[in-house]
Amino acid sequence: MDHARTRVLTGARLAVTPDPVTGLGAIVIDGETLAWAGPQAELPAQFADKETHDLEGRLVTPALIDCHTHLVHGGNRTREFEMRLEGASYEDIARAGGGIVSTVVATRDASEADLLADALPRLDALLAEGVSTVEIKSGYGLDIQTELSMLRVARALERERPVSIRTSFLGAHAIPPEYEGRADDYLDDVCLPALRAAHADGLADAVDGFCENIAFSAAQIERVFVEARSLGLPVKLHAEQLSHQGGTQLAARYHALSADHLEYADEADAKAMSEAGMVAVLLPGAFYFLQETKWPPVAALREHGVPMAVATDCNPGSSPLTSLLLAMNMACTLFRLTPDEALRAVTVNAAKALGLADRGVIAPGMRADLAIWNASAPAELAGRIGFNPLHQRIFRGRPC
Ligand code: NIG
Ligand code: FE
Repeated sequence: MDHARTRVLTGARLAVTPDPVTGLGAIVIDGETLAWAGPQAELPAQFADKETHDLEGRLVTPALIDCHTHLVHGGNRTREFEMRLEGASYEDIARAGGGIVSTVVATRDASEADLLADALPRLDALLAEGVSTVEIKSGYGLDIQTELSMLRVARALERERPVSIRTSFLGAHAIPPEYEGRADDYLDDVCLPALRAAHADGLADAVDGFCENIAFSAAQIERVFVEARSLGLPVKLHAEQLSHQGGTQLAARYHALSADHLEYADEADAKAMSEAGMVAVLLPGAFYFLQETKWPPVAALREHGVPMAVATDCNPGSSPLTSLLLAMNMACTLFRLTPDEALRAVTVNAAKALGLADRGVIAPGMRADLAIWNASAPAELAGRIGFNPLHQRIFRGRPC
């Protein structure tokens, strides 16, 4: 298919459209954008003579969006997995100098070429399941040069594969050993200068932090948010993952795009997120892998109308997951999302979590980023484990 031409996909079951389309639908792709979508019987006459592909009843969704990953990192943490199976907690390991800091050592040791080569198979696993937009964070450098390297590698992935990458600066992820007990000095000497440098080089689309007793307090995170605001960058936060620290309320005061994890968040947090127009990003892979038992407040989020997104949180320590379909399944089985909610969580709501208004929905004017599935109903995507029903991915109008 030549991408400059107008093409019509017929015989499609459409999901995540502004108005539900029952029965067979059609989509018109014009170059890199969608020109029309709706019931096949209503296809405008002007498109009737265009190149047409019959999808034979297949489900078509917006291409999936993984809105929270740490995909670029060095090394692995399988030894810590073994330690946790023997009874150590994630916090015990972090306090003993393992955890995020052990990945920092491996990431600092890696060249940008190594980081790129290590990240590609993980990215390919996501793309194979219909993902076309991936958010990637820094946060395993914790020195200026390595934080910038991570973000450069994240950007470079966009040149290696048909994918759209959004970067988040996560300098406030952990306190590196050389600043132990001196978190504020780390912010002054490293994190804030690295953020300014990342912004100056166009490497950061947003700013993230980890507000937790093993990481940064809400007051410390606020210093990072103040800097982000002065640079005009949107913020988001790893909040209330292991304990309740007040990060969600802080994020709401800064009109954050999202608060992520949220196992220890409460109803007041859900209300604050709703009032601030935030997205709740649920990360069931981390909940599962850390054998967490406290649920994020899904009922309160629903009640307050907070859009819920779901992401892999792909990282070596708490969620070594490279399947967004499995994350959808886990969101249903562990957090009791409906399969429809799970699909919206990795399309329209994930786009909102990234502040992107040009994707995540099948509608005219949107990017032609689509996933075509060997399935006929959305529930089939979240309803399997370890089976990939992708038929074809279309990225900016091109089949790939
Ligand atoms: O999203 N919560 C903090 N950051 C990551 C974990 C990083 C790690 O353990 O390496 C997360 O779960
Ligand atoms: Fe994370």
